Amino acid sequence: MMRIFAATTTGAVLLAATVTLSVAGGHSPIEQRQAAMKTVGKSAKSIGEMLKGNAEFNAEQAVAAMVAAREAVENYGDLFPEGSETGFDTVAKDTIWSDRAGFDAAVAKFKADLDTAIAANPQDAEAVGAQFGAVGKNCSACHETYRVNKT
Ligand code: HEC
Repeated sequence: MMRIFAATTTGAVLLAATVTLSVAGGHSPIEQRQAAMKTVGKSAKSIGEMLKGNAEFNAEQAVAAMVAAREAVENYGDLFPEGSETGFDTVAKDTIWSDRAGFDAAVAKFKADLDTAIAANPQDAEAVGAQFGAVGKNCSACHETYRVNKT
């Protein structure tokens, strides 16, 4: 009887620990979307530095940066639930919620353009520039409409 009680208690404690961990690891959607864009920003910067000649060109690294950006935005559209309009210094604009279809389309286009660039597997600076140039148009297009302009 005691042994069963002890085993049950241990199980309950373990369960409680798991729940606590998953809550602690589960950042708010605002933090998650900001982290995703930080990764996208890092990728764009590393590719940009190569194309400007400030860093040595490396096709493998350029494509890996595109893959990192693509993975970061896999669930990007889900990170704007109702109720996440404010907090954590978000600069997401109201238009995301008032024009959800437009925003979802912008996210989908960004992902599709990244997929195209990755599939092209560009091997020289010119090809990376062409592929990532098309991807880069999404940044300003989306930010202009769906992100508050930080002044
Ligand atoms: C489909 C829309 C969309 C696209 C495409 C997009 N962004 Fe963003 N980006 C956002 C939104 C919305 C925010 C603000 C999110 C917030 O603060 O909650 C943001 C924020 C950022 C941030 C600030 C991150 C932080 O919080 O520190 C960076 C950097 C950034 N984007 C870079 C880029 C780059 C570079 C690209 C293109 C390669 C890009 N974004 C494409 C919507 C987009």
